[in-house]
Amino acid sequence: MSAAASIHHVAVGDTRLAVHTAGGGLPLLLLHGFPLDHAMWAAQEPLAEHGRLVVPDQRGFGASPGPGPTSMEELADDAAALLAALHCGPAVVCGLSMGGYVAFAMWRLGRARIRGLVLADTRAGADSADARARRRQMLSLLAEKGTGSIAAAMLPGLLGETTRRSRPGLVAQVRGLIEANAPQAIAAAIGAMMDRPDSTPGLPEIGVPARLIVGEEDTLTPQTLADEMRRLLRAADLVTIPEAGHLSNLEAPQAFNAALADYLARR
Ligand code: MLT
Repeated sequence: MSAAASIHHVAVGDTRLAVHTAGGGLPLLLLHGFPLDHAMWAAQEPLAEHGRLVVPDQRGFGASPGPGPTSMEELADDAAALLAALHCGPAVVCGLSMGGYVAFAMWRLGRARIRGLVLADTRAGADSADARARRRQMLSLLAEKGTGSIAAAMLPGLLGETTRRSRPGLVAQVRGLIEANAPQAIAAAIGAMMDRPDSTPGLPEIGVPARLIVGEEDTLTPQTLADEMRRLLRAADLVTIPEAGHLSNLEAPQAFNAALADYLARR
């Protein structure tokens, strides 16, 4: 978010979340992915013309203090309490990747706060045994070599092939966003994601229309996962974003914003 957005800290549970707000009307909560913070949503600021943007740094990340999350449910409680503290009515909740895991937990814990769901480059399933083993390797890497090594390990998965080949500036920007985050928060979030439950059985219970968005070059949460979620959700459609990878909102902001604006107009 740019300087035009208002930035403040809001008391939420046992912490204070940094939150960026802009615009007015229907609340649009943007939940960032891992290991990032609100700044990954900078290119979504034009959406303030379509709703009230509420863009937190989730606990431990960005300017939000703390050691980081213990669970996706804790992040979901934070997000719900933030909406309440800002006097928001039911919101459109848009989560990318880890933000999507939090959105699923918000639905389980307090669906009355949710008017619509946008699930971008995410998965409903829990971690497989292999994924958990990779998380443990990440924890060792982080402890031994710090956040720079996490950035180096994750960038090839976070950004699509087109971006990595043709946009070195964006690659450097995302590296900077990762390296700005605290190692304790990164470690905590790895543990919290590793232990998250499987949200797949709850998909048919989701009673609001969902929009799925996926970058066509996303290899971390590829389109096959979005297709499967669409099949299980009661009402969902899918927007595939060309020439974008896992961080589709950053790599192709115009297409991503158009998909969100169109969804908001129908909520
Ligand atoms: C993210 O982008 O939030 C991560 O890829 C999520 C994960 O590691 O499962």
